[in-house]
Amino acid sequence: MEIFIDTANVSAIRQFSRIGIVDGVTTNPALIASEGRNFREVVEEICTIINGPVSAEVISLHAEGMIHEGRLIAKIHPNIVVKIPATPAGFEAVNVLSQEGIKTNVTVLYTANQALLAAKVGATYVSPFVGRLDATSTSGTELIQEIVSVFNNYNFSTKVLAASMRNSIYVKHAALAGAHVATIPPEVLEQMMLSELTDLGVEGFLAEWNTLPEEKRNYFS
Ligand code: E4P
Repeated sequence: MEIFIDTANVSAIRQFSRIGIVDGVTTNPALIASEGRNFREVVEEICTIINGPVSAEVISLHAEGMIHEGRLIAKIHPNIVVKIPATPAGFEAVNVLSQEGIKTNVTVLYTANQALLAAKVGATYVSPFVGRLDATSTSGTELIQEIVSVFNNYNFSTKVLAASMRNSIYVKHAALAGAHVATIPPEVLEQMMLSELTDLGVEGFLAEWNTLPEEKRNYFS
């Protein structure tokens, strides 16, 4: 499974990319706003850090505006993926942009039918919002399973990008359900690397190791 980082914070992107676990980045208008920086400047900087897909979202609500913004955003860098909401206007915009060879990510998506339509109009990714769906007492993981089945049934090349991954359990479930990608906020990536048992195990080994006389521990020199 590919892992994208779900943030517009360039320090976090640098930190996790150094570890080697980040294949791409997703942003949204709220994430960009929380950085308080110019949209274009942030997106350009992200593209210099990560050599992979970088999703940046349109803000227009009608197809014409989405197409116009999508073309402008796509010009920022060859790795840009234009993020477009799963609305009737959004599907129309994706249909036009995908025929122009612009990569798209259909976002704020909550049903398998929306995913089917996004694939029909040539979306590169669909982003089901798992955490937000779970918050309405509907299983986000089941939605991922459904979309993966639909895409497999018809050999769609559109990738399932599990989004709104608000804890590490969601990521595990998305991976088990066959999502091609998960986009994960920095704090959840951090959580995924940690286990108290690992820390206790390492601590225990070192405690035993330190009972060896020093001259027998000196294998580095
Ligand atoms: C996805 O691309 C979105 O940016 C993001 O995953 C939304 O997550 P949230 O529901 O935690 O805001």
